[in-house]
Amino acid sequence: MKFSIHNDSFVEKEQECIVVGVFNKPTFDGDLAVLDQKFDGQLTQFIKEGDINSKLKNVSKIPSFGKVPAKRLLFVGLGKDKELTFDQLKEAFGVAAKTLKHMKRSTFGVALDTFVTEGIDTFDVAHAFAEAFSLATYEFQNYKQKSNEPEVPLEMIELITGADEQEVRASAEVGYAYGRGTNSARTLVNLPGNMLTATKLAEYALELANKYDFEAEILDKEEMERLGMGALLAVNQGSVEPPKMIVLKYQGKDEWKDVVGLVGKGITFDTGGYSLKPKDGIVGMKTDMGGAAAVLGAMEIIGELRPEQNVVAVIPSTDNMVSGNAFKPDDVITSMNGKTIEVLNTDAEGRLALADAITYAKHHGAEYLVDVATLTGGVIVALGTDKTGAMTNNEAFFEQVLEASFEAGEYIWRLPYTEKDKQRVRSSKMADLNNSPGREGHAIMAGAFIGEFAENTPWVHLDIAGTATTKKEEDLCPAGATGAMTRTLALVVERFQSSES
Ligand code: BES
Ligand code: ZN
Ligand code: ZN
Repeated sequence: MKFSIHNDSFVEKEQECIVVGVFNKPTFDGDLAVLDQKFDGQLTQFIKEGDINSKLKNVSKIPSFGKVPAKRLLFVGLGKDKELTFDQLKEAFGVAAKTLKHMKRSTFGVALDTFVTEGIDTFDVAHAFAEAFSLATYEFQNYKQKSNEPEVPLEMIELITGADEQEVRASAEVGYAYGRGTNSARTLVNLPGNMLTATKLAEYALELANKYDFEAEILDKEEMERLGMGALLAVNQGSVEPPKMIVLKYQGKDEWKDVVGLVGKGITFDTGGYSLKPKDGIVGMKTDMGGAAAVLGAMEIIGELRPEQNVVAVIPSTDNMVSGNAFKPDDVITSMNGKTIEVLNTDAEGRLALADAITYAKHHGAEYLVDVATLTGGVIVALGTDKTGAMTNNEAFFEQVLEASFEAGEYIWRLPYTEKDKQRVRSSKMADLNNSPGREGHAIMAGAFIGEFAENTPWVHLDIAGTATTKKEEDLCPAGATGAMTRTLALVVERFQSSES
């Protein structure tokens, strides 16, 4: 699919369909007034009678009956112009995109300038459209014998505008990159555990590295043993699938400094291990690599947009299985940084895998850390399924992550992290730390455990157990994987400012 930019009036444009924004206003102005004249004032009438609905997120398709060269017009309701937000605009475009997808045409046009309002210029509109279109039309290619390939592939979207062609194209390409990176993350999460093993995830990361010229390192089991990654290795102990520590580096600055480390939980299937999950709780645990997917999706966006930043992505990957070799409750293990851990619950495996990954990210020069993980059921109880739980040891860095999440339209909510929390993860009689200090505030305990490995490095923890998937379809996402935090992570990197600068 390609974008082409056209500097003419949409009223005169020949097209299968043109997408037009309509605000809840008493009169039309600009090109819409011209369009209304061509329709002999009928559009005003359509609005009055509800055939065109200007309420936010309503779409109305009208044939042109030869009054304009375009065959049909798709009106997108935007509500009151002063109230429209960037996120709502994306959602409205999402609704329109689904209608367009069902129309099965190879091309259509978008009258960008009809969507412009006080706080949202044409470039924002181009970005919002491209991002929303890719997100809303995403579909996982399933394994049914009858394929769900679209019969008419979309070839060209014409963006019609009076604004600067180059800038409009650049904005659309940024939006499209954000959408596609998120979709790639969704696909990784939707893949079943037998199709996406740690080895496959590593192969996928290598393909990204090849495409975007990232430096890559994939550690195998022997190398992990040599480096003393006892925490990740313990999680892998019961598996027949070899573990992988996946590292990708992108250098956008002359020197390897101010490095942002993105660390994503890559558990390809979580049975719980000997602290086995109940049969209802185990279904869906193919999504336990949602953090890894978000990191790889963000790396794809970074590879496309090539910001002047330095990033190291680190993904500890394995499944968490049961067997005669598997690790057990009461085991004591030693992590890469030397800290010993008493295992009280083998289902609290994510924090173990992440512990070594955080240490390894620091080894690779990470001076700022963001970890992303489908870490706890507790965060779902606390915040529901539309807010990612966050923790931090550094206010200024947290502010940067919070701002990025606002800009991306992904909600995060901070959980407290106090000295008492630190004491609870250090409360083992057998070892330096224990991996499961009990049910009370256990989302906080998981974060606090990871904090023991971040130590003094500015760090933000993101628990996406609730947000990585959605049970019901949304305007910008079908049911299934959401790609949560992909866009936020990419924005954290794009907008990153070192505390030294
Ligand atoms: N992968 C799970 C968390 C999870 C739950 C993700 C639901 C997505 C949906 C994690 O490894 C886990 O099992 N956490 C336990 C921790 C507990 C044993 C301390 C939990 O949250 O119950
Ligand atoms: Zn678990
Ligand atoms: Zn898990």
